[in-house]
Amino acid sequence: MSAAANIGVVGLAVMGSNLARNLASRSGNKVAIYNRSVEKTNDLVANHPEANFIASDSIDEFVASLAKPRIAIIMVQAGFATDAVITALSERFEKDDIIVDGGNALYTDTIRREKEVSAKNIHFVGAGISGGEEGALKGPSIMPGGSKEAYEHLGPILRSIAAVAEDEACVTHIGSDGAGHFVKMIHNGIEYADMQLIAEAYDILRKAGGLNPIEISRVLTEWNAGELESYLIEITAEVLAQVDQKTGEPLVDVILDAAGSKGTGVWTVQNALDLGTPVSGIAEAVFARSLSSQAAQRAGAPEYSAGDTIWEIADQGAFIEDVRQALYASKIVAYAQGFDAIGAGALENNWDINLGEVAKIWRGGCIIRAQFLNRISDAYRQDSKLLSLLFDGYFIRAIEDAAGAWRQVVSKASLAGIPIPAFASSLSYFDGLRAERLPAALVQGQRDFFGAHTYKRVDMPGAFHTLWSGDKSEIQTD
Ligand code: ATR
Repeated sequence: MSAAANIGVVGLAVMGSNLARNLASRSGNKVAIYNRSVEKTNDLVANHPEANFIASDSIDEFVASLAKPRIAIIMVQAGFATDAVITALSERFEKDDIIVDGGNALYTDTIRREKEVSAKNIHFVGAGISGGEEGALKGPSIMPGGSKEAYEHLGPILRSIAAVAEDEACVTHIGSDGAGHFVKMIHNGIEYADMQLIAEAYDILRKAGGLNPIEISRVLTEWNAGELESYLIEITAEVLAQVDQKTGEPLVDVILDAAGSKGTGVWTVQNALDLGTPVSGIAEAVFARSLSSQAAQRAGAPEYSAGDTIWEIADQGAFIEDVRQALYASKIVAYAQGFDAIGAGALENNWDINLGEVAKIWRGGCIIRAQFLNRISDAYRQDSKLLSLLFDGYFIRAIEDAAGAWRQVVSKASLAGIPIPAFASSLSYFDGLRAERLPAALVQGQRDFFGAHTYKRVDMPGAFHTLWSGDKSEIQTD
């Protein structure tokens, strides 16, 4: 067989086959395909003759069908399967060839794999790909890590298949080794927070405002014409408008209220805990899903007299606008926390990540695509060292405009007994960030009392300890 393909895809389940079709539909690409079980390969070839795939039944044949430098994108299950395919390819690939993992790998696995593969002078690129099935087919947001040299070859191909937002392809070289998968992980974490916030807004509109799902769908459609414009708001409006074909009830009312997850939200929070970065909105979103799934505990909760009060709503329009403002402010906090986590990860792993570029490539193709990302991109373009998105002029004004409504909504929802973990934690984070003094001073005092952990003083350098069980005098320890 002649080595005619400029790119190959291994793994032809839904994401892999859609990505292969996307690649084949762009001019200049000739796509080789391979799947462990040959049925998927045959089906794809039969169903999509227009793609003119070069199909192989064996990995040897697949590798032989790739022109040099060979580039193969792996789209198989994360974990063991990915390792197996990387091993098979790296045994056959040669110097300067490029292996791309387009799956949802944990970035630490990507760092390990990059080390192992690059020791053989083969490039390894962990690329986060977001946008689900449709994104893979029509244009995803792509977050490639790996070396700059690899990206020189890979970049044009990825640009050819990526989503386009305002005439720019939604792909950029994120940074070395695991940077791409790290950023994809945080993307998913932000997605968790964004979804939870929208769900809380829905819950308030429904329980306090008495709106039904169709009415809330209309509200969201209106919101989608403003600063909240985003894919997630758009699809939520669609979900709420859906009527169950079996019962005639709103579909949302017949779906079991136990949210699942595939783990990237958990990874985000675990890593943020390790990095000491407070992603409280994302954590609350993950925990809200956990709580929703605790079926036995929820079913066993006693009837409490918990002091819930009725939320008196005098003006329905003003109430809806307050909820919108609270959602927008909370969303800004969630994104600020997510971008902080990327910054912290970059510092820890020596990645030179351009946060403004990350915001830009999330404007199209991915699940959190939104108008609002232009504002984030602008903020980092104006000041690449911005300490927090919440310190950017645009976002300061947005929060100031929303703050009153935000506080009203958080306090009144609490009084009404409506759970709002993400709304409330976002507001507390904001208040914590801007507080002149935090009660952390007292925590330090407590730690010094029981563990002699020492404390610093506001008025002189050094570390100090109070002799709590002695004469309570203070000694300097450092
Ligand atoms: P999706 O979520 O898109 O449906 P996935 O579950 O992430 O897909 O990955 C499934 C793919 O991984 C399939 O192409 C599968 O190959 P088979 O069709 O032969 O099952 C592939 N896969 C799983 N384990 C593999 C392994 N050990 N070696 C090679 N490919 C493997």
